[in-house]
Amino acid sequence: MTRRVYIETYGCQMNVADSELMSGILADSGFATADNERDADVILINTCAIREKAEDRIFGRLGWLKPLKMERPELVLGVTGCMAEHLRDQLASKTPYVDVIAGPDAYRRLPALIEQATRDDSAMIDVRLDREELYAGQRSQRARGVSGFVTIMRGCDKFCTFCIVPYVRGRERSLPPDLVVSEVRELAEQGFKEVVLLGQTVSSYAVDGVSFAELLRRVHAVDGIERVRFTSPYPTDFDDELLQTLAELPKIGRHLHLPVQSGSTRVLEDMRRQYSAEQFLELALRVRREMPEFGISTDIIVGYPGEDEQDFEKTLELSRTVEFDSAFMFKYSERSMTAAARKRPDDVPEAVKSERLSRLIALQNESSRKRHARLVGQHVDVLVDGVNPRDEAQPKGRSSCFKSTMLDLSSSSRHGAATDGAALALAPGQLVRARVEGSATHTLFAVPL
Ligand code: 5AD
Repeated sequence: MTRRVYIETYGCQMNVADSELMSGILADSGFATADNERDADVILINTCAIREKAEDRIFGRLGWLKPLKMERPELVLGVTGCMAEHLRDQLASKTPYVDVIAGPDAYRRLPALIEQATRDDSAMIDVRLDREELYAGQRSQRARGVSGFVTIMRGCDKFCTFCIVPYVRGRERSLPPDLVVSEVRELAEQGFKEVVLLGQTVSSYAVDGVSFAELLRRVHAVDGIERVRFTSPYPTDFDDELLQTLAELPKIGRHLHLPVQSGSTRVLEDMRRQYSAEQFLELALRVRREMPEFGISTDIIVGYPGEDEQDFEKTLELSRTVEFDSAFMFKYSERSMTAAARKRPDDVPEAVKSERLSRLIALQNESSRKRHARLVGQHVDVLVDGVNPRDEAQPKGRSSCFKSTMLDLSSSSRHGAATDGAALALAPGQLVRARVEGSATHTLFAVPL
């Protein structure tokens, strides 16, 4: 009988892409897809290890799944990805009902691991990291949609002191340019309109003499792809060639995710980021000046070991100066194995971390609100990807500068743009020009032209 797999994904976009990869591998081995955990013969939880909270959540989720496993002992329950790599021993001891523990480089062996787990009572553990594994030539099974991920780099060699990624995803390696382009072509043939190139530090891409800028040009040339995005670049890789390429290629999304982490040069040095606050500011302000249509988002950590009030105020000041369009903001979470965990006590009290995070979020909300409000009256190109969950008559999508945008069809007919409701229906995948009529902290409201 065909066995059905249900994969649940936690964490970043790369994990979403990895889940699609696992789906492809398992489909090629004869597994079918289950729509939910109840209908599944195999449940895989693809996990994140970036902060302790992410791991706590997964232990919680496993607790919820335990009764299912007790009811149906033949069910195979697997934990895959970063937390499987990081907490293999804890998983084996704290959740002994888990059958498979597979790290990010073990996915090709998943069918065999699941097979073995069916026959054997003890957990199958495969957390071998592999310097070469890029899953080249392995088809991913993607949900139909507008936007498709292509992982161009795996692992990371930057070794920022706070970050667990190099330990759980291994050393940096990149997919050769021809393979990147052929994957993008396949996406286009399958009807995807947008491609998102993924990697820990995509802008450091350099394979066979092909720079990231050159890779973008090649991807940009693929017919059928209307928009190209990438995440995340590293702030020191922005040479003139890359900036010029971004500015010149019209299908590149007008958005940069530039993780700054801190506004204090002292803290940045301790983190082993390779730039000062001033250098980051120079880059961000150059983008604002030369490419004003670009949105800039960032990641910030508060409460890194030794961060004092002055350091934190520098972060606030930098945020205020750049006026990020949006930001992911986190309290520092000590991760075992990292340099920070080895050399620095996690000495900022939890209450101080929380207080700093609230102040930062308040400032960021103000910035986001202003950046969104600035677009009112302007035209944006929206790639439709679904409907407004609060009003299903309203299509929604992303502007090129990556702002979530609700499209008001009723007022577009009022404005005489069209009169026939049916002609107005916008399907996912359509790229429409719209005039921004209103804004909120995280959303634009626009009327198709
Ligand atoms: N604690 C808190 N945040 C972290 N990040 C990475 N490691 C940690 C950590 N130990 C954040 C960084 C990174 C984002 C993906 O997660 O801001 O850019």
